[in-house]
Amino acid sequence: RSLGWMSDTATPLLERAAAAPPTIILDCDPGHDDAIAIVVAARHTNLLGIATVAGNAPLDRTTRNAIIVRDMLGIDVPVHSGAERPLVAEPKHAGHIHGESGLDGADLPEPSGPADGIDAVGYIIETCRSTEGVWLVPVGPLTNIALALRSAPDLARRVAGISLMGGGSFGNRTAVAEFNIWADPEAAAAVFAYGGPLVMSGLDLTHQFQATPERIESIRVLPGRLAATFADLFVFFSRTYVGRHDSLRGAPVHDPCAVLALSHPRLFGLREAHVTVETAGVHTRGMTVIDNRRLLERSAPNCTITESVDADAGFEIITESIAHFSR
Ligand code: BDR
Ligand code: CA
Repeated sequence: RSLGWMSDTATPLLERAAAAPPTIILDCDPGHDDAIAIVVAARHTNLLGIATVAGNAPLDRTTRNAIIVRDMLGIDVPVHSGAERPLVAEPKHAGHIHGESGLDGADLPEPSGPADGIDAVGYIIETCRSTEGVWLVPVGPLTNIALALRSAPDLARRVAGISLMGGGSFGNRTAVAEFNIWADPEAAAAVFAYGGPLVMSGLDLTHQFQATPERIESIRVLPGRLAATFADLFVFFSRTYVGRHDSLRGAPVHDPCAVLALSHPRLFGLREAHVTVETAGVHTRGMTVIDNRRLLERSAPNCTITESVDADAGFEIITESIAHFSR
């Protein structure tokens, strides 16, 4: 079911992506919502590999968390660690949201071993060159993706596209900057300018997609250890968000939206716009500048924005994905 207005050009792109399970590399910084993105990707995409980046926590922790989630799902997918710090900005993390481990709130097993590789950028380049039609799905700071595009400009033509979580018309780290863009604005600017298909799921969308107590309960009642673990993670994540806002009933479940935009595009209302990233502003560094003018000579769109979501249907897909792996 499609909600709202779907753009004529964006719809075929995403419909094609979802005709068969889309082939993706998930680039993430787990992170509670990153962990949920891994589950949805494992269930509903041809997930080639997981790349990790510093973001919600330092790289050793985001990589450790990605390996733990991969292990808990029992899937045969490599985890490659990547950039330890942003291109230019000082590294800053999000312990106030995700805890010091990056994935606080649940009793997690030890990882089965180290990462399968420590060169996520090389892994991304090689995989996109050897496999047709890969979608890159970054749901953390965009450092790895920018480095891959810089070292291998041919990637811009080779990939099917980039579906990212980040940005929006308001911020969460500053009044105008969302964390993933704010954490590495120079990398984000390069990605928004890369020239190929780009799908942005920003805060305007993800704040419509909240882990309410009822939705968390629907996971809590599922059988199996994985469901109990994810219910605990959701509770921690929601508590930090609800405690810090005046109007949320649960944490916005940001990162799975970038996966669902490819696997289930009909959940979303879409529009197209030109989006650039501010890197210089004293008060606006890390802002996604969305050209919403109605002027005929406005900049040509470079980005499909997911702007509305059927949140109940989307959360059912998350619940079913967790149920699938919770044995
Ligand atoms: C983004 O920042 C991180 O804390 C989340 O994992 C998500 O990717 C939301 O601003
Ligand atoms: Ca993330």
